[in-house]
Amino acid sequence: MANERASAGAPTKASGPVSMDKIVSLCKRRGFVFQSSEIYGGLNGAWDYGPLGAELLNNIKAEWWREMTFRENVEGIDAAILMHPRVWEASGHVENFTDPMVDCRQCKSRFRLDLLFDEVSAKKRKELMREAEPKIAASGDEELIAAEFRKLSELEPQKFLAILNCPTCGNKGTFTEARKFNLMFKTFVGPVEDSGSVVYLRPETAQGIFVNFLNVQSASRQKIPFGIAQIGKAFRNEINTKNFLFRTREFEQMEMQFFVKPGTDVEWFEYWREQRMQWFVRLGMAPGALQWHQHEPGKLAHYAKDAYDIEFAFPFGWGEIEGVHNRTDFDLSRHEQFSGKSLKYFDEQTKEKFTPFIIETSAGASRSCLAFLVNAYAEEDAPTGEGTVETRVVLKLHPRLAPMKAAVFPLVNRDGMPEIARKIEQDLRPRMRVSYDASGAVGRRYRRQDEIGTPYCITVDSQTLADQTVTVRERDTMVQERIASDGLVSYLLGKLSAA
Ligand code: GAP
Repeated sequence: MANERASAGAPTKASGPVSMDKIVSLCKRRGFVFQSSEIYGGLNGAWDYGPLGAELLNNIKAEWWREMTFRENVEGIDAAILMHPRVWEASGHVENFTDPMVDCRQCKSRFRLDLLFDEVSAKKRKELMREAEPKIAASGDEELIAAEFRKLSELEPQKFLAILNCPTCGNKGTFTEARKFNLMFKTFVGPVEDSGSVVYLRPETAQGIFVNFLNVQSASRQKIPFGIAQIGKAFRNEINTKNFLFRTREFEQMEMQFFVKPGTDVEWFEYWREQRMQWFVRLGMAPGALQWHQHEPGKLAHYAKDAYDIEFAFPFGWGEIEGVHNRTDFDLSRHEQFSGKSLKYFDEQTKEKFTPFIIETSAGASRSCLAFLVNAYAEEDAPTGEGTVETRVVLKLHPRLAPMKAAVFPLVNRDGMPEIARKIEQDLRPRMRVSYDASGAVGRRYRRQDEIGTPYCITVDSQTLADQTVTVRERDTMVQERIASDGLVSYLLGKLSAA
């Protein structure tokens, strides 16, 4: 096996932060994500994963599943999406899973109240404050004006709604009063559509875990502390869907509920925070693109004692990709109360009976997929073999997440090269996703693979005919090595498992 450095040299960064438009366009062009029902004009808040997107999403989910369920103290389940409607009364979703919203009477646009106010510009904010609170506006203190505007818009939204222009049609004073809007999708079981047959599409996967707590514990003979993990679809009738895969009406969650003895919850909460942040970093997220956001005590969800979000630096700003929550004994106590069945745990050693506390790690699979794409996207000036420089788009996805692990090229379509390349492709195919490309200049073929994040490209060239070696080119450094073709499978498997 001989080593050979690429003569083309290393790539250099050619672009600043990526825009959402570039991500959306790459996703469509290369088959990561398509608009749902596109030929009918699309359906808002729903997206279809194409061949490469399905592969990427599956790889993210597989990495998460491995991370969680390969532990001795975490079991996996796959619960039904449809659950008994009482589940959602017990969970608090029927009562609390609401957003305040307003409609424009003129153009019928609907807005989430907090987002409507968030999007008011600093200039407009001043104007509104001049009308509503002239004394504060006259102070000229920008921070005070912003803080008072935020406070008043929460306490007395009507004051501003009466004088705010609709962002869609521009009319003033056309907003309705704020109303509570439940985000759960309702449907009916059986042929009769009445209140007795209402069920909901689950808005989170967590409840399927809570109601199975004792089933899983006794079947797997786990002792507390232990966790239950689940990946699955969740549905929310979001008022404003936004930013591609970020806020959608149908999405996938990867949730793990860890059951602990009360009093040990704070320690486990810290443990899981650390574990979850490290998972993203190990899969290639730039540490500077991640941050923690602690929920203010007044803004905690109805079930939480403490909550932190892992936020990612999206092109549109910081956005939550995962929540870590100390849910206390809220969930199990409520399900005990509503079902009349005991969900207490009996500790054989101490002979104590108690309701466990729950530490939840709740990541969005689809939202993480968007974050991994943004994190991986780069535009670089790459030297070509001919001594010129061209811009390459490259997805620097972690090799374990990359949809295709390798691509095989014959340098030219003659002299027996395609046959050798096909043989290599056939050897690799049972072990990893691999593609074969024989069309166009080899530089173009590299670019096509860079753009979809393929970590290794293998080229069969004239030297292969003489010594049975091939070049293996690494995506990020563009460095090429010569490898004996009969050692290629173990070479690539070694690279992928070490990554
Ligand atoms: N069981 C707790 C729970 O569901 P959440 O903060 O509402 O907590 C957890 O949601 C994660 O689910 C979020 O961090 C996000 O990644 C994902 N998520 C929530 N709503 C979403 C939506 N409308 N579209 C895409 N992902 C969403």
